[in-house]
Amino acid sequence: MEISRPRGTRDFLFKEMKERKYVENTLRRVFENYGYGEIKTPIFEDLKLFTTKSGEAIKEEIYHFKDKGNRDLALRPELTAPVARLYLNELQRQAKPIKMYYFGSCFRYERPQAGRFRQFWQFGCELIGGKSPEAEAEVITMAAHALEELGLKDYEFHIGNLGIIRSLLNDAEVAAGDQEKIMGLVDKGDVEELENLLNNLDVSPGLKETLLNLIGMKGHKEVIEKVRNVIENCKGAFKSLNDLEKLLNTLETFGFTNYIVNLGIARGLDYYSGIVFEIYVHGLGAQKQISGGGTYNLIEVFGGEPVGSTGFAFGFDRVMGALEKQNTEIPVKGHIDIFVAPLSWEMRDEAFKITQNLRKKGIKTDVDLAKRKTKKILSYADNLGAKYVVLVGARDIGAGKVTLKNMESGDQQLVDLDDLCRKLGHEMG
Ligand code: HAM
Repeated sequence: MEISRPRGTRDFLFKEMKERKYVENTLRRVFENYGYGEIKTPIFEDLKLFTTKSGEAIKEEIYHFKDKGNRDLALRPELTAPVARLYLNELQRQAKPIKMYYFGSCFRYERPQAGRFRQFWQFGCELIGGKSPEAEAEVITMAAHALEELGLKDYEFHIGNLGIIRSLLNDAEVAAGDQEKIMGLVDKGDVEELENLLNNLDVSPGLKETLLNLIGMKGHKEVIEKVRNVIENCKGAFKSLNDLEKLLNTLETFGFTNYIVNLGIARGLDYYSGIVFEIYVHGLGAQKQISGGGTYNLIEVFGGEPVGSTGFAFGFDRVMGALEKQNTEIPVKGHIDIFVAPLSWEMRDEAFKITQNLRKKGIKTDVDLAKRKTKKILSYADNLGAKYVVLVGARDIGAGKVTLKNMESGDQQLVDLDDLCRKLGHEMG
């Protein structure tokens, strides 16, 4: 009987895990440099945490179930709602702003394809209690800084403010349900369907033209003026546009100007309320979005005092895919540094002693446990990426020595047993 992996999940082997660990640690370092502290929340939560804002329809897209106590639970599809819950449960009284980051797996019932999985990982952050536009500017700068540290090139950082379109729709009294449909199509970038929908909803030709015009607007700061000219006298839209302009000015002081203003960003999740951003890497096909985020109002939805909240999450698997696509070098070390090889099975006790001494010095060491011939041991050690093999022979041991073989150059030298740990410790840095 062969049992296979569930659809949309993956196994990760040694090399890939090392690469993922390197990327995780790099992101950790950057986030911590910006003053973020790590938090962890449960993998499953009360189903209501995800249906309260998004409605029952979200159940189609997530894994949810009843436990033996008849509780409705869901595997988390993302971490912003769990972090909002954690904030309300534990941190409301804490001095603000509160900067939290997380790395964890998420689950979505999606149709799997390249870059789209049912279990995937997010590395993200939430900044709660910061003021706009400063908090937003810092969050956006950190996202770009993290990609720079990873060596990722050729990505596009798109920034918008969905308050502009929302205000126009509110002023025109478009019903909430219809607004969601419109935003959904804006998010997909499906202009044709959007046009059909706007025709069916009977929105005025003026509004239809403005909306279609807006979602096509992309560029640098000059876009602000163009938008100003098309939103006419919608007060809310002007306010959102001014917020966007202030953000772009603040980004300049943070030293990040490599963005594209894009009013067509609507985001798939329902809780965003203003500034939104997405990062794309071309060459990843349909799943080119490696990160998304923005300012949101989830905490009020759960009954908390209104508090400025901004965040984003890298799709960790897509970041890995982008690094691979761009042939970015990820420095990974071999599995072990040293392999200890008894030249005869009688030497195994000596070999184990030497191995333990090296391990206690913090040197990654492995030893032959399979009673193999020296030639086999050498090729096995080479496969593991060992830099040196310690050959333990009876004659050398009798003289208090071992032979050290450099696996790269092939050079061999006799080393005093007493000096081995110090010498290898020094070599391995
Ligand atoms: P999201 O855009 O739904 O936002 O997800 C964030 C990132 O996760 C996406 O940009 C994408 O790279 C990755 N992602 C999403 N679904 C999948 C999937 N099925 N397979 C692989 N990768 C995927 C959020 O989840 C928000 N909570 C982000 C946020 C944090 N907003 C504010 N704070």
